[in-house]
Amino acid sequence: MKILVLNGPNLNFLGIREPEHYGTGTYESLCETIRRHAETCGIEVEIFQSNHEGALVDAIQGAYGRVDGIVINPAAYTHTSVAILDAVKAVSIPTVEVHISKVSEREPFRRISYIRSACFDVITGKGFDGYLEAMDRIREHLLEKGKKA
Ligand code: DQA
Repeated sequence: MKILVLNGPNLNFLGIREPEHYGTGTYESLCETIRRHAETCGIEVEIFQSNHEGALVDAIQGAYGRVDGIVINPAAYTHTSVAILDAVKAVSIPTVEVHISKVSEREPFRRISYIRSACFDVITGKGFDGYLEAMDRIREHLLEKGKKA
């Protein structure tokens, strides 16, 4: 089972940016936590971060036919990007949306998510653990689907 973990703009600045919302853990420590969890669960994981919308679209398209599930934190593009929504719809890969902070309790514009309608689940406000939970949900979702098939 292969999962692609995608992170959008400014998440490479974790540990530096707004620790009151995102904590003090760095982007490197997030990647390490994800890799460790993947290894424990026997999941093959690919991790990619970009500050550019088109690069995220390219990464989603590149997952087509290659990856079983996507965990995505589109960061600020959550609230603006039809292109990322369309890319997730285009590839039809089971996807979970993740946010480190509790977006529903912040500024009103953060309550809008373009990508949500293309995701089968969303996890917010659980810090880095949200990524691990999202990986677990994808695994359960795929196992469930496999059972029905
Ligand atoms: C975020 C929430 C977004 O509103 C924000 O633009 C981010 C990070 C989160 O993980 O909580 O960059 O996606």
